[in-house]
Amino acid sequence: MPETEHPAYPVGLRLAGRRVVVVGGGTVAQRRLPALLAAGADVTLVAPAATPSVEAMAEAGELAWERRAYAEGDLADAWYALVATDDPATNAAVSAEAEARRVWCVRSDDAEAATAWTPATGRSEGVTVAVLTGRDPRRSAAVRDAVVEGLRDGTLAAPHRRARTAGVALVGGGPGDPDLITVRGRRLLADADVVVADRLGPRDLLDELPPHVEVIDAAKIPYGRAMAQEAINNALIEHAKAGKSVVRLKGGDPFVFGRGMEEAQQLADEGIPVTVVPGISSAISVPGAVGIPVTHRGVAHEFTVVSGHVAPDDPRSLVDWEALAKLRGTLVLLMAVERVGAIADTLMRHGRAADTPVAIVQEGTMATERRVDATLATVRERAEAEAVRPPAVIVIGDVVAVGE
Ligand SMILES: C[S@@+](CC[C@H](N)C(=O)[O-])C[C@H]1O[C@@H](n2cnc3c(N)ncnc32)[C@H](O)[C@@H]1O
Repeated sequence: MPETEHPAYPVGLRLAGRRVVVVGGGTVAQRRLPALLAAGADVTLVAPAATPSVEAMAEAGELAWERRAYAEGDLADAWYALVATDDPATNAAVSAEAEARRVWCVRSDDAEAATAWTPATGRSEGVTVAVLTGRDPRRSAAVRDAVVEGLRDGTLAAPHRRARTAGVALVGGGPGDPDLITVRGRRLLADADVVVADRLGPRDLLDELPPHVEVIDAAKIPYGRAMAQEAINNALIEHAKAGKSVVRLKGGDPFVFGRGMEEAQQLADEGIPVTVVPGISSAISVPGAVGIPVTHRGVAHEFTVVSGHVAPDDPRSLVDWEALAKLRGTLVLLMAVERVGAIADTLMRHGRAADTPVAIVQEGTMATERRVDATLATVRERAEAEAVRPPAVIVIGDVVAVGE
């Protein structure tokens, strides 16, 4: 804004239970209404027509919709008004009534004529960020995004006492690409004193942790050296009891073949509070990363995620392979690289077609990602020839060919 103009005076309006009138039901209203409703405002919408989303808010009883054009007097008893019709004369008339009634009024078509401006807003951890730059809404949005993102991922060192997570957070880290952890997971990681990390998951994020953070490697390398589950549990319990903020960082989702509940139960038995943060499971995201949808209209109406950590004929197996062979949908196998030949034979023996497409995706979403294509009949030989190694997700079904 020109230096000669006065800057806007920032204020936080507490609108809960207070009448707010919105005139116009188009996309501007659609964008602004959720924040007004979240603030608890008693919203009346005056508009002859509205977008389907706005209409849905009215149908859900979130606001009162008067299906008609604006009429003088609509702002009676209002505390705040938003005018956003596509008719400048109506906008001017509402503005004039607002001015006369001393109601603060945001006007989408003419910021100069408005008595209030909507800042670019965002929220993170109970902090509302509101940015006003006068006439540059893009810059407002960019500053808002930078601040909110920085607060969320911990890169903005806000000098306030953070609400630390008591106990242990079981955080699903996603399949490996550091961008595929959730916002909440990343924030908890940034606040942790101790991180107990698996080999799978977003290992790159560990490099970003400040030096005072203790990182314990719970590498459970398939068939290699493993830190016993008991030792992991003991480490979690010991650090949590010492008052540390502990993150147990796991690959994918903690509850998909991740022993998340075993750890949560152990911690609960010790009276330690547990927070579970879901993660993006490799079962869906790794196929997706190479263009394989686990379902597709007209192709597969179901997908089944199966552990292949024991062979089909192993007495410890809880999987009904015969029943799986009869399904028409997608099978997603985890931990199955070593036994893929035996699994394919079992599926074919029980009726799944030998030419069913199969894709093996190794180290999905990581720089080393690769995909090997085969059929049920050829997958054993292809996996050997290509020296496929864990971690890999194996997808069986017609969806494999959909994106080709
Ligand atoms: C112990 S399970 C844990 C699964 C994890 N909780 C999840 O939701 O993705 C480990 C298996 O997940 C699969 N996996 C995990 N991350 C992967 C990745 N980035 N690429 C391919 N497979 C992956 C592999 O089948 C691996 O053997």
